[in-house]
Amino acid sequence: MLEQLDAIYSQALARLDGLTDGEALAEWQRRYLGKKGEITLLLRATGTLPQEQRAAFGQRANALRDALSAAYTERATAVRQAELSRSLEEAPLDVTLPGRRVPVGGLHPTTQTLRQIYAIWAEMGFQVFRSRDVEDDDTNFTLLNIPPHHPARDMWDTFHTTTPGVILRTHTSPGQIRAMHTYGENGTQPIRVILPGMCYRYEQISARSEIQFNQVEGLATGRNIRLTDLKGTITEFARRMFGPDKRVRFRGSYFPFTEPSLEVDIECILCGGDGCPVCKYTGWIEIAGCGMVHPVVLQNGGYDPREWSGFAFGMGPERMTMNVHGIQDIRYFWQNDLRFLEQF
Ligand code: DAH
Repeated sequence: MLEQLDAIYSQALARLDGLTDGEALAEWQRRYLGKKGEITLLLRATGTLPQEQRAAFGQRANALRDALSAAYTERATAVRQAELSRSLEEAPLDVTLPGRRVPVGGLHPTTQTLRQIYAIWAEMGFQVFRSRDVEDDDTNFTLLNIPPHHPARDMWDTFHTTTPGVILRTHTSPGQIRAMHTYGENGTQPIRVILPGMCYRYEQISARSEIQFNQVEGLATGRNIRLTDLKGTITEFARRMFGPDKRVRFRGSYFPFTEPSLEVDIECILCGGDGCPVCKYTGWIEIAGCGMVHPVVLQNGGYDPREWSGFAFGMGPERMTMNVHGIQDIRYFWQNDLRFLEQF
């Protein structure tokens, strides 16, 4: 067995000299020094020798194994060095080159507008109230003074679910009812909230309308809230949002849940009021619907309309973003096209 050991040793050393890559080195290590390597197996067989030879054999085998290990480490280092210099010669590395920029994500243009809107209303004392996307028919319509079968329902084409009476909200206005029930403490507390979120309408998708879009609803209730409060507050919002010099105008309108109802226009951001395709040559851009909360709605929210009043509004952040940036087609917002998104 001693001769066998010496033979394996010299053979292993000789082979090691010829190895030039990591793969072959690993193979060599498995073959001689691995768990089932030739040296290891011989060492394990020490017990089969006559008693008086065992010690000497074991010592020698261990010494040769250590010698091979050392030779292996040396060779492996040399091979690694050689590989490194080869790769450096083939493709020199210029450490002074500027790094490659990792592409960073950005906020969706609507999100940017929404955050601006939140910040402005927060400064004016309005807190964000999150209401649900899936609504019941009652809260989305009836409690907002839009009874079943009333033609006013035609203003909102609705997505229904397979559960009767459960729909996707067509506007954020039902959140007014939920906010009144949650914050109103049975009609005893004033409220100042905005209610942002997604709305859904069963509509033909076109450059002007999508089947899902955001709204930011607003609600203020109090004991002495008047139309002048509504106009002043919305005007102040528009100034902070679009610039102090922008003109704001209110037009009479109709919504079932407000009385009186108004629509808010600002001077067209792109043409400054001269007329352009974005404002359809009117010089004005509509940014919100609003009005004094209808007594029936106050009542349904738990407020006694003889003592309480309030104003509400609903604005469209996508529309606003389109006007600010001159975006001609609302469908871009959901197309997930980087060429569009990267511009913001
Ligand atoms: N909910 C209305 C819509 O989706 C927008 C609106 C108009 C909300 C007037 C209001 C409001 O709170 O007072 O068309």
